[in-house]
Amino acid sequence: MGGGPAGLLLSHLLQREGIESVVLEARSREHVEQRVRAGVLEQATVELLSEVGLGERLRKEALVHHGIELRWDGASHRIPLSDLTGRSIFIYGQQEVVKDLIDARLAAAGPLYFEVSDIRIAGVESTQPTLRFRHAGEEHELVCDFVAGCDGSHGTSRDAIPAGALRVYRHDYPFAWLGILADVPPSTEELVYAAHERGFALHSLRSPRISRLYLQVEPGADVADWPDDRVWQELATRLARDGWTLRDGPVLEKNVAAMRSFVVEPMQHGRLFLAGDAAHVVPATGAKGLNLAVHDVKVLAAALARFYRTSSTRLLDAYSAVCLKRAWRAQEFSLWMGSMLHRLPDGDGFIGRLQRAQLAYVCGSEAGARALAENYVGLPHDAE
Ligand code: FAD
Ligand code: DHB
Repeated sequence: MGGGPAGLLLSHLLQREGIESVVLEARSREHVEQRVRAGVLEQATVELLSEVGLGERLRKEALVHHGIELRWDGASHRIPLSDLTGRSIFIYGQQEVVKDLIDARLAAAGPLYFEVSDIRIAGVESTQPTLRFRHAGEEHELVCDFVAGCDGSHGTSRDAIPAGALRVYRHDYPFAWLGILADVPPSTEELVYAAHERGFALHSLRSPRISRLYLQVEPGADVADWPDDRVWQELATRLARDGWTLRDGPVLEKNVAAMRSFVVEPMQHGRLFLAGDAAHVVPATGAKGLNLAVHDVKVLAAALARFYRTSSTRLLDAYSAVCLKRAWRAQEFSLWMGSMLHRLPDGDGFIGRLQRAQLAYVCGSEAGARALAENYVGLPHDAE
C-alpha cells in the first residue's frame, strides 16, 4: 500500500529476489512524480540505490556535498562532514528518486496501480491477508502472503492493527516550515542552516539552476499570507551575512509543512508490516525521513527473501526492533538539531542563551561538530 519511495523501492527489491508484489497508490502518477519534498540523501541510501540498479541518473545528476554551513549572529561556521566522518551527502530531489523507481517498475512490467481508492485490509493475523480496493471504477480483491503498509503518515494501513496491539508516540513542535522551489541558481555551494532571532531559515538546492529554501513559520501558517516578496525578504534577513547576497527569482512552488514526531510500535502486526512515514515521522531539520524509509524496506525485503528461501521468520520477527532503533536515533537527532536552530517560545531569553551555547559547542569543538556530522551523514546500514 503506497507508491511513495518506501512502497516503490520495496517492490523493486522484492522483484530482484524473484518475489511478486503489487503496488497500490492512491494518487496519480503525475502527482507523485511532481510532489516536492526531500532533497538530502545519505551515502548509505545512494549506495543501496546504486547496488540495485537505480543509480544511473542519480550518479550523473546528484550533487555530492562534503560539508554544511551553520549561520548565526551573522557569521558562518562550516561543519566539514566528510573530513569528520569519511562520508558525504547527496542532493537529489525525492521526486527524481520516485521517477527512477516508477521507470524501473514499469520497465520490469511489475504491477503498479495509480488512483486506487477505498483500500480495505482484512485478515492480517492469518497467513492470507486480503486487500479489497477500487480501481478504474471496478472492485478488486488481492489475496496476499504479506501486506506492506507504505502509505505515509496520513495512510490508513495502520488502522488494520487492533488498538490494543500498538502504541503511538507523538510530539508536536511549535513551528512549521514554509518551503519554496525557485528558478534561480543557488546563492551557496553547500546547504546553509541559519538560526536567527526571527526564526530558522535553510538554503538548500536541487541543481546548479534551481534553489530550494525554507523558513520557519507559525504552525497552521497560510501560504496566502506569504507572497513571494515577503518570503524573499524574510529569507534575506534570516540568512544575512556580511559580503553575501541572496539571489532571488521566480517561485515555482510554495507550501507549508507541519513539523511533528510520530512513532508506531511495533512496526508489525501479523502479516502486516509498516514501513517509512506510515510507521515514523521525524521533523525535517535532520533530513532523515526518506533515508529511514529506504532503510526500512531494505531490512524488510531481506527478511521476506529469507522467509521465501528458508521458511525462517527470524529476520521478519526482528524487523520492527531493527528499524525502530534507527528511527529513534533519527528522532532524537532531528529534535536535537531542530531545538538548536529554531526560534522557540522563550520567556526571558533563557532558551535563546542555551541555543547559543549549543551552537558554540557544535561549531567550536571537534566533539560537538562530530556529533552533528555523524548523525547528519547517517549510520552505515550494517551498523545495527
Ligand atoms: P510517502 O512519500 O508519504 O508516500 C506514501 C504514498 O502512499 C504516497 O504516494 C501517498 O499518496 C500514498 N497513499 C496514502 N494513503 C494511501 C492509501 N490509503 N492507499 C494507497 N496509497 C496511499 N527526508 C529526507 O530523508 N531528507 C530530506 O531532505 C527531507 N526533507 C523533507 C522536507 C520536507 C518539507 C518534508 C515534508 C519532508 C522531508 N523529508 C526528508 C521526509 C520525506 O519526504 C518522507 O520521509 C518520505 O516521503 C517518506 O516516504 P514514504 O514512502 O514512507 O511516504
Ligand atoms: C532539504 C530538506 C531538509 O529537511 C533538510 O534538512 C535539508 C535540505 C531539502 O529539501 O533540500
